[in-house]
Amino acid sequence: MPQGYRLPARLLHWALAVAILAMLPVGGIMVSDGLDRATQNTLFILHKNLGVVILLLMIARLAYRAANPPSPLPAQMPGWQKTAARTTHILLYVMVFFMAITGYLRVTWGGFPIEGLDAIGLHPLLARNEPLAEIAKTLHFYGRFGLLALLALHIGAALHHAVILRDGVFGRIWPFWRA
Ligand code: HEM
Ligand code: HEM
Repeated sequence: MPQGYRLPARLLHWALAVAILAMLPVGGIMVSDGLDRATQNTLFILHKNLGVVILLLMIARLAYRAANPPSPLPAQMPGWQKTAARTTHILLYVMVFFMAITGYLRVTWGGFPIEGLDAIGLHPLLARNEPLAEIAKTLHFYGRFGLLALLALHIGAALHHAVILRDGVFGRIWPFWRA
């Protein structure tokens, strides 16, 4: 096993990557015109509840990272690339939290259910407030563009390492690596 992230961090990265990459189209489709009511309801339930799971897994991931910091990036990597990678990773954390929190606030202030949290009596934690729900909705709408831009940078750089440079950086996070 090469240096890099421990197995739980690798598994969390990929579980969250799949979930977050699914949230973007599901969010867009569920608010589009011409969708039948039943499909729209199903997508809303999926989006809200998976969004809350993402929020909880992101907290677990940060806690795990604090206790198990990854090893440093390869020494031959130029300094500016290390800084760019670190900055992008921090901004990805920020934007995922931003999306999950604005989504949660939009729904809670809007007075809508979050079925999983309702079932365990943890919803709503905040009183209904229409003006604040509208602000959260706007932030949630525009936040997606920031997240998409960061993902394009991040995935582009990762594939550059994996396919062109082949310098082992991709193997730092890929869970099924065989040296
Ligand atoms: C096909 C999609 C993706 C690929 C190929 C990919 C690849 C990678 C690679 C190679 C690393 C390790 C960089 C290093 O060695 O330090 C990494 C780290 C990271 N990735 Fe991704 N990633 C993908 C999707 C995502 C998504 C969707 C997110 C979340 C929005 C994400 C967030 C992160 C974060 C935050 C880190 C830094 C982890 C840390 O140091 O705590 N990635 N990714
Ligand atoms: C990583 C997390 C998330 C991402 C990437 C994401 C992404 C999106 C996107 C792209 C849209 C479509 C915006 C539009 O066209 O209007 C959307 C809408 C929506 N999202 Fe999320 N979302 C996330 C988390 C959440 C959470 C946690 C909740 C609630 C618990 C939520 C609730 C909603 C709602 C209610 C809408 C419809 C907004 C409206 O028009 O009222 N989202 N989301």
